[in-house]
Amino acid sequence: MHRLTNRQILLGITGGIAAYKSAELTRLLKKAGADVRVVMTPAATEFITPLTLQALSGHPVHLQLLDPEAEAGMGHIELARWADHILIAPASADFIARCAAGMGNDLLTTLCLASDAQISLAPAMNQAMWRDSHTQANIEALRVAGFNIWGPDAGEQACGDTGPGRMLEPTDLAERLAAEFDYLALSGKTVFITAGPTREPLDPVRFISNHSSGKMGYALAQAAVDAGAKVKLISGPVNLMPPERVDCVQIETAEQMLAASMEGLESCDLFIGAAAVADYRPVAIAEHKIKKGNEEIMELRLVKNPDIIATVAKHTHRPFTVGFAAETRDLIHYARDKLTRKNLDLVIANDVSVPGIGFNSNENQVTLVTADKATTLPQTSKRLLAKQLIDQIALQLKSKQA
Ligand code: C5P
Repeated sequence: MHRLTNRQILLGITGGIAAYKSAELTRLLKKAGADVRVVMTPAATEFITPLTLQALSGHPVHLQLLDPEAEAGMGHIELARWADHILIAPASADFIARCAAGMGNDLLTTLCLASDAQISLAPAMNQAMWRDSHTQANIEALRVAGFNIWGPDAGEQACGDTGPGRMLEPTDLAERLAAEFDYLALSGKTVFITAGPTREPLDPVRFISNHSSGKMGYALAQAAVDAGAKVKLISGPVNLMPPERVDCVQIETAEQMLAASMEGLESCDLFIGAAAVADYRPVAIAEHKIKKGNEEIMELRLVKNPDIIATVAKHTHRPFTVGFAAETRDLIHYARDKLTRKNLDLVIANDVSVPGIGFNSNENQVTLVTADKATTLPQTSKRLLAKQLIDQIALQLKSKQA
């Protein structure tokens, strides 16, 4: 399930009777979470209509190399860069020959030349064509060039022959494709990340907040997506663009952050609380702007905000829960206290008294604190650190789930 979440799959369909199975293949890839874009050769459109594939993939089908309209949407080079993997199913003898010769005489062969993504072929043809020495030499050349050759199966053929040349079943192809991404640390996992500050309003124009930039949380969201996860980023007001392929929920107050964190928590595998949540909020929000009075001192009454991460960690379907601790002294002592008090699996602690790291800066240095271990990672950019943290967290998540 969902092992292809966030993966961008380019499905090429060439002209063969097995093209009818590509509709089911598209459906299975979508169901596994992939974003699928379909490219068809002119011959493929004789077997199955582009409209069917458009309906199933949710995107217009790409048909021609030199199509000004398609190029205005997503050009062929963009499409080649977009793909995480190119799967050609069915791959006809003619397509295989053109591909092996390094030709770029239609959209699909051009994409294969232009893309750095892994390419997999699911050959489908008459058994005599498959056995032909030319086809066999082409297949060998493509294999040597690094293409995956999936199938063909042997059995009864549409033309009445029996032998090798049947395209593998869509379920088999979808499974092989998902397995290509299983090396990703968070493949198939759903991750919630809170980031940035919260804002607690006093009146229609004023609020209490803090200096959190959201950089760490956003970098973690990017690293989690790159590691194959489906990511919900619950963000307070920050000046950052949400990473691509992330579901970003914008909130202002701690209470709104809590509501967004609890929504769909049953399906969440990993929760990372990187937000700097306001611990208190005004007891009441004035309906109108508070006017300056004669008094020299003004008192604010505050009430405690819910602890979001502690509430998440109390849930019956509790995800693996990771919190942050920004401290100025006794780092490990306070981090471990937070770990037990909030019932967390891991606390990422940083010493905010050290200049150049932590709040608002581009670099950070952290210590990973669990019940029995404290591991310090060297100071580096938040982007690189996020990658290391996601790798470490994924390892701990795996060993806990095992
Ligand atoms: O207790 P303290 O605020 O220092 O704990 C820090 C950790 O708890 C962070 O991961 C932060 O995102 C989370 N937190 C929270 N809800 C709060 C306060 C903190 O989720 N109300």
